[in-house]
Amino acid sequence: MKNVILDVDTGVDDALAIAYAVHSPELNILGITTTFGNTSVMEATRNTCQLLQVLDAEEIPVFQGVEETFAGHVPADKATWIHGENGIGDAQLPSTDKQAEDMGARDFIISAVRNYPKDITILTTANQGNLARAIEKDPEIVNLVQEVIHMGGAINVPGNITPYAEANVYHDAEAAQFIFQSGIPITLVGLDVTLKTLLRRSVLDEWKERDTLLSRALADMCHFYMDAYAKVEPELNGCALHDPLVVGVAIDSSFVKTKTMTVNVKTEGAEKGQSVGVENQDGNVKVTSVALIITNNKKCW
Ligand code: BDR
Ligand code: CA
Repeated sequence: MKNVILDVDTGVDDALAIAYAVHSPELNILGITTTFGNTSVMEATRNTCQLLQVLDAEEIPVFQGVEETFAGHVPADKATWIHGENGIGDAQLPSTDKQAEDMGARDFIISAVRNYPKDITILTTANQGNLARAIEKDPEIVNLVQEVIHMGGAINVPGNITPYAEANVYHDAEAAQFIFQSGIPITLVGLDVTLKTLLRRSVLDEWKERDTLLSRALADMCHFYMDAYAKVEPELNGCALHDPLVVGVAIDSSFVKTKTMTVNVKTEGAEKGQSVGVENQDGNVKVTSVALIITNNKKCW
């Protein structure tokens, strides 16, 4: 089993990623850290705790981050048009007594990495502020993390929050630049591949028919997300499974092919959040270039 930390801004596709990870025997989730992005950090924490209750996985501890960028700025507005007012497509999950632990996200990442040297993979499906703060406080952990798999960036395709920037990188461009320059080993799962990894509407009907608390909750969340995609990216004919692909790659890295690069993030101006990759055999970032698509039991790249 692979020890993992999930770092999320739950978020419809983060919720799918959490459900996928919880149900994957290949992964041992040591904890989930939360941040802002799709919604506020407090709402991301609440959504995560409620979802863990629906998943019957309340024993997984949740550690909250801060509502501030790495450079100390107020976060950009939440993404209500794609993730709803509450972050999970306005689906109503049962309330829960579960709350975040007293320890914050930064300190949990440091203590977990110190407890499991070279034996933790960090799956970040949100802005990279929590990890950046952990490395800033304890720089040695760069050499103790086995790998970071990050949903972020748009290397050879346009952005999704601006013409240049992918949302997770844009939400904390300074944190992303800090992480990419830190030397930590990263597999970058960006829009280049996640916009080809789609959920079709017919699957939601199957989930509804299954009629469990979990299947109904996920279908309700995804209906909103699917409708939003139909408005902004109608040619996709589905919604992007950005964050679940990170979990997929953690389970089986052969889902994607990568190119080794050095990545820089622009932190100012109209191009803020743009991630620029340059092929470099000594680089620390494995940028996913293509993902394995399985349609009707046929595999193709
Ligand atoms: C990323 O941004 C968020 O909206 C999603 O949850 C995903 O992590 C896609 O750009
Ligand atoms: Ca996310």
